[in-house]
Amino acid sequence: MVKKDFLSLEGFTKNQLDQLIKEAIVLKDERSKGLLRDTLKGKSIAMLFEKPSTRTLVSFDVGIYELGGHTVTLPSSSLGGREAFEDIANTLNRYVDAIIIRTFHQDSLERFSKAANVPVINALSDKFHPCQILADYQAIIEHKGQGHLKVAYLGDGFNIANSLLQLCSIVGYDLYIATPIGYEPHKDHVEAAKVAARNTGSKIIISNNPYEAVQGADIIYTDTWTSMGLEEESHVRIPLFQHYQVNSHLLVEAKPDAKVMHCLPAHRGQEITNEVIDGEQSVVFDQAENRLHAQKAILISLFK
Ligand code: CP
Ligand code: NVA
Repeated sequence: MVKKDFLSLEGFTKNQLDQLIKEAIVLKDERSKGLLRDTLKGKSIAMLFEKPSTRTLVSFDVGIYELGGHTVTLPSSSLGGREAFEDIANTLNRYVDAIIIRTFHQDSLERFSKAANVPVINALSDKFHPCQILADYQAIIEHKGQGHLKVAYLGDGFNIANSLLQLCSIVGYDLYIATPIGYEPHKDHVEAAKVAARNTGSKIIISNNPYEAVQGADIIYTDTWTSMGLEEESHVRIPLFQHYQVNSHLLVEAKPDAKVMHCLPAHRGQEITNEVIDGEQSVVFDQAENRLHAQKAILISLFK
């Protein structure tokens, strides 16, 4: 069901995403009973990270090991202009069965995808973080079951917001994104979500009003105000984003049983307070755990 590559959620149907989550939930249950599969026996997978990672790198490494495969993690300097992306991809084609890559620019990912004749998985780019959002969908299903939900996203209209636009428009959740002026998601991603939403009835609302976004929400999601690679902008961003902090005052506007989500790493005291991230409504470590199970489901689907 996952085609050659897994670069974003574009083109997936709700049924296909639900099948992946169903598989991820079975894999989670099997693992809790000590049962592991050998789908990747004899397979080697290269991992390239242009920027730091804790969750993505470890969950892929452990997940591939648990499926019987082997990983090779290249030093980030391999991607640092030593040679063309196409030459790296063409070389890896001769050694490995798949490539997992985290890049600064979507363009680099797409160049890799074109040059590679093995599957390429997006481990985060400036446009999308599909592995994260699939794991998050698993957490939402586990906590809320199937059904219509209102999702509020507060903060920067960057990779996580773009992937949420894809997810919500595909599965039929209403998505309210509130960002400071000038930090809205790119109109191309919003338009694409609105087109997908025509089939599912999901409402896609982009505003600069965090209270309106959170009103009656089932899910409140936030991400760092300063993504990796944009650190020099943080002194400009921090004052502009203050009203978008997920804190206890804002949380009371949501449904009493709303869940709070964050992809991590979190900047405690900026986009989210300690009280909220450590509070009862937070599911952030379930999201982190599900990276392992959801990514195994993606890998199994790629190698079927
Ligand atoms: N959420 C996430 O992708 O975390 P890492 O940057 O640690 O991989
Ligand atoms: N938007 C964040 C996500 C980290 C998982 C970043 O790109 O740094």
